[in-house]
Amino acid sequence: MDGNGRWAQQRGLKRTDGHAAGEEALFDAVEGALDLGVSWFSVYAFSTENWTRPVDEVRFLMNFNRKILIEHRDDLNAKGVRIRFLGRRDWRVPRGLLKVIEETEALTARNRRMTFSICFNYGGRAEILDAVTAMVRDGISADKVNEKTLRRYFYAPDMPDPDLVIRTSGEYRISNFLLWELAYSELIFTPIYWPDFRREHLFDAVRDYQARDRRFGGLT
Ligand code: IPE
Ligand code: MG
Repeated sequence: MDGNGRWAQQRGLKRTDGHAAGEEALFDAVEGALDLGVSWFSVYAFSTENWTRPVDEVRFLMNFNRKILIEHRDDLNAKGVRIRFLGRRDWRVPRGLLKVIEETEALTARNRRMTFSICFNYGGRAEILDAVTAMVRDGISADKVNEKTLRRYFYAPDMPDPDLVIRTSGEYRISNFLLWELAYSELIFTPIYWPDFRREHLFDAVRDYQARDRRFGGLT
């Protein structure tokens, strides 16, 4: 969900106003995904690198994430959405937010219409490292190490690799998002800043995706 800061700057607003404006975009996109019948929908909300931002912005984002969870979880729960957080639950995540994350996951755990994964304090490299560390700690022997075993140690072992990834704001990079999982994902880059993103943009991306020829390294 990139481009909040530039969206705000364009309007002479504070960067945090841009984040706030991203809320409408997010829940419109979620509605769009539900309309489409998407069963796995993920967003990149906060990276392991985002802690390097000014403390005020980080603090805003922590409070903001807690606020939007509290405000939207009952509605999403009623719509059959399972909400999950993917990322490191380390000491940097404020305790109050962690509590709301855990409550929200528990509240929505039995829903299956759509899994809405919020990548938060998430890094693709961190995920792979955490998986390797946990495997070593569990004493998995070298001959048992393969892609399937490694995946079992990821933050969401049951999550299929993404078919489609949309990056907003005109940047052409992955920025540490789901590094392992998006080996064969179709990528779509749009110049739209996240606060301007709406379900129609998701539909456009899906139409674009449907015209792609996916070969997974093979031939068609
Ligand atoms: C994305 O918008 C939101 C987060 C990373 C939390 P940015 O804050 O990166 O917006 P730009 O890239 O500065 O425009
Ligand atoms: Mg950015």
